Amino acid sequence: MEKLYEGKAKVLFPAGPDTLRVYFKDEATAFNAQKRGLIPGKGVINNKVSATLFRYLEAHGVKTHFLEEVSDREMRVLRVEILPLEVILRFKAAGSFAKRYGVKEGTPLKTPLVEFSLKSDPLGDPLICPEAILALGLAAEEELSQVRTTTLKVGELLRDFFAQRGLDLIDFKLEFGKRQGEILLADEISPDTMRLWDQKTGEPMDKDRFRKDLGGVEEAYQEVLRRVLRG
Ligand code: TMP
Ligand code: ASP
Repeated sequence: MEKLYEGKAKVLFPAGPDTLRVYFKDEATAFNAQKRGLIPGKGVINNKVSATLFRYLEAHGVKTHFLEEVSDREMRVLRVEILPLEVILRFKAAGSFAKRYGVKEGTPLKTPLVEFSLKSDPLGDPLICPEAILALGLAAEEELSQVRTTTLKVGELLRDFFAQRGLDLIDFKLEFGKRQGEILLADEISPDTMRLWDQKTGEPMDKDRFRKDLGGVEEAYQEVLRRVLRG
């Protein structure tokens, strides 16, 4: 079937007037696609992890685009108009935050921090402040406030979920979409879009293993899936 859109990690196919089929690929990129590779089995794992987390969040009152898993690598979702924002929530300093402010990775933050980036490959997803989001009309004030509240709620829910599975949720990235005037959590939630450190060893169990060439990438993804499915 003809694809609607192909991104770095997923392909979208039409699946009816109001729904899409999302296919999760094994391809991995980092640093705005300057680094490319393959993580065998990643698509299957990210589909399963995302589906499980979307169901968990829905069960706790978070509205998402998720409808159902349709195969190992595919889920069906509601069509939404994606807000051009990457919404990041941080519990501990890591990655670009640690680098920007010169703080050691793993330093706990006094409060969870919501950050926004403009989704733009040519610009390299620059940080954007809420005032600029409003000034550019990328979201309305009420929408932005809902995005922030939902992100903090998702953060609490996911942190609990992973803590019960021996994983420390350091930070994560969400995307939201609009459908019939309603804001829905969209995209994916997977080891590609989160930092998860093993509580006992402190080892990263996410895409940082690929970004930083730490080895054991597939094994880490498999272990995250195993713990997510533990229930
Ligand atoms: P950062 O520290 O590199 O800004 O990343 C923050 C979080 O966002 C981290 O959990 C990884 C995730 N992320 C994405 O999902 N997509 C991206 O393109 C980037 C840069 C980060
Ligand atoms: N997915 C992003 C890219 O390839 C970056 C990342 O996740 O580090 O540009």
